[in-house]
Amino acid sequence: MHSGSWECTETAEWLLNRTKICPVLAIICGSGLGGLADKLEESVTFNYEDIPRFPTSTVPGHAGKLIFGRLMGHDCVCMQGRFHFYEGYSIHTVSYPVRVFSLLGVKTLIVTNAAGGLNASYNVGDIMIIKDHINMPGFSGQNPLCGPNDERFGVRFPCMSDAYDSELKSKLRGAAEAMGVAHFIREGVYCMLAGPSYETIAECKLLQKLGADAVGMSTVPEVLVARHCGLRVLGLSLITNKVITDYDSEEKANHEEVLRTTQRQTKLLQDLVLKFIYKAHFTDKITKCCTRE
Ligand code: HPA
Repeated sequence: MHSGSWECTETAEWLLNRTKICPVLAIICGSGLGGLADKLEESVTFNYEDIPRFPTSTVPGHAGKLIFGRLMGHDCVCMQGRFHFYEGYSIHTVSYPVRVFSLLGVKTLIVTNAAGGLNASYNVGDIMIIKDHINMPGFSGQNPLCGPNDERFGVRFPCMSDAYDSELKSKLRGAAEAMGVAHFIREGVYCMLAGPSYETIAECKLLQKLGADAVGMSTVPEVLVARHCGLRVLGLSLITNKVITDYDSEEKANHEEVLRTTQRQTKLLQDLVLKFIYKAHFTDKITKCCTRE
C-alpha cells in the first residue's frame, strides 16, 4: 500500500534531483487524453517503472510516463496514464502521485477523464466542468484518506464542499468562450464507481436520481488527496457516451465508443486546457522545490 509520507518524500526527492523544472501545476491525463503532455517544452520524461516507490502499470505495453516541462510559461508535471482502482490498486496507491506532486511544490491540479453522460441534455463530445462529485466507493469505506492522518499534508477531517475551485471553473469557461466552443461546455456532478463493469440500467437510473450528471471510474481519489493537501482542483469530464436507461434499447455501453469519442474530441480538450493555462495567471510560484540550492 502506498500511503506513507516517507515513501512520497523519497519519490519527490528522487524526481527533484533529476529536473530543474519546479512544477506549480500538475495535470492527470485521462485515457486517450495524454496528448497534452506532448506539448510540454524543455521536457524531461520518466517511466513510472524507473521512479522509486511509484506505482507501475498493470497493463503490459502501457507503461505510464511522468513528464516535466513548461506549458505556456508555467512549470508543469503531467501524468500520461493514471492508476485505476479497477486495475486492482488500493485506493491509496491510485492517489499516491498527488501526494508526490504536493511535495514537488504543485499548487494546482487539473484532472481529465472520460465519462458516461447521465444527464439527458448532454451530448456525446460535450466537456463537463466538474462542479462536485459523488464518491460512491467512499460509501463502502474506500477513501484514500482512511488510515493514520499525516498532519504535514492536511487535517484529519478535510472539507469537500469546495473541492472544485470556482475561479478555475470560470477561467475555463472564459477559455471556451474565447475559443468559440462554449456550446460544448456543461457543468455538473461526476459520480465515481469502482468499475470495471459498466452500469446496469437500474444503476444508471439510481445515479440520475442522486443528482449525478456523469459517471466514470476515476478522478475522485486523486481529488480527495489533492484537497487534503490544499491543492486547487479543476476537473474536466469528456462525455464519451450516453448511458443506457431504456430496457428496449439495442445499444450497449462499450469501450470502443469511449475510445472513438476520445479520439474525436481529444484535440478540443487539449486546446481548451492550453488556452485555460494561458489565461490563468498562476501566481503561487514560490514553491517548496524552488527552495533547493
Ligand atoms: N460508465 C462508466 N465509466 C465510463 C463510461 C460509462 O458509461 N464512459 C466512460 N467511462
